[in-house]
Amino acid sequence: SLPFENVQALASKRLKDIPHRYIRPDLEFDKVSMDESLQIPVIDMSKLVRNQSGHGDELGELHFQLIKHGVPAEVIENMKMEIKEFFKLPLVEKMSCAQLPNDIQGYGQAFVVSEEQKLDWGDMLFLLSKPASIRNMRFWPITPTSFRATFDKYSSEVQRIAVSLLRLMGRNLGIDPEKLRSIFEDGTQAIRMNYYPPCVEANKVMGLNTHSDSTGLTLLIQANEVQGLQIKKNGKWVPITPIPGAFIVNIGDIIEIMSNGKYKSIEHRAAVNPENERLSIAAFHGPNLKSIIAPLEDLVKEETPNYKSLTHEEFVKLVVSSKLDGKSLVGHMKL
Ligand code: SIN
Ligand code: FE2
Repeated sequence: SLPFENVQALASKRLKDIPHRYIRPDLEFDKVSMDESLQIPVIDMSKLVRNQSGHGDELGELHFQLIKHGVPAEVIENMKMEIKEFFKLPLVEKMSCAQLPNDIQGYGQAFVVSEEQKLDWGDMLFLLSKPASIRNMRFWPITPTSFRATFDKYSSEVQRIAVSLLRLMGRNLGIDPEKLRSIFEDGTQAIRMNYYPPCVEANKVMGLNTHSDSTGLTLLIQANEVQGLQIKKNGKWVPITPIPGAFIVNIGDIIEIMSNGKYKSIEHRAAVNPENERLSIAAFHGPNLKSIIAPLEDLVKEETPNYKSLTHEEFVKLVVSSKLDGKSLVGHMKL
């Protein structure tokens, strides 16, 4: 029974032939483009904040790398270090944070829902971080001993940046910027820390297969400067060059819905390196638990809504069930 095999342990066997459940027939590596002009823009957050002029600024972009964001470098560096140390622990120690059946929290792998489903070449530690009431400390590592404090600090700093970006995006949409801010201010946050071992057949597997994030806004770091993230742009797969200290900002499905389609969530995936392990940390930011997931009222006064309206709870159910049938989530929400 392969499904929940630990990929780090599997990779350490250095098999010449890797199990077929990981081999994907069509990875479109011929569509990977090194065209520099497709790289996503780099946005200086300190300039955005200073420029109070209103619309038409750079936040029309759907995805970008964010620099001068105000998260202290040491907060990011400490987080990277903790997660490197965590994944280095012996398997039995990491398993003290292991996922439970039918739960995504903890240390383990992505959901496997059928015998046919291909498997991702990667392990993860997935923790719900905000609001504090949804945390399940059972899954939080106690080694390294500083992990929890570092993670908590990182979680708050990153959420703060996400919320101020969302406020600026509200301004860009021409609505009262405080509206988006208030929806996300005491919102949900989950952090997924990914470990992708090197793979001798790197061009036949995926660390994390094509998806869009079913959240509001994702702030991602490629944590050991090994490249792997690819974003779909103009029908091409664009490998995003890591900039040390920058966050990669991805629009998720909830912002597509709330913006009534002005922002679009973005398809992406994580490729695996043949020689080097790769680490990444993705922080997902959703609205607070009371929020309705729907096009923002201020936007649909003058235009027709393009998406359905769901409660937070209904939306979470839809996320789970749409993963089961493999269709895109926004597809299910379109009117
Ligand atoms: C993700 O999409 O959550 C992670 C992508 C990556 O590992 O770069
Ligand atoms: Fe993602």
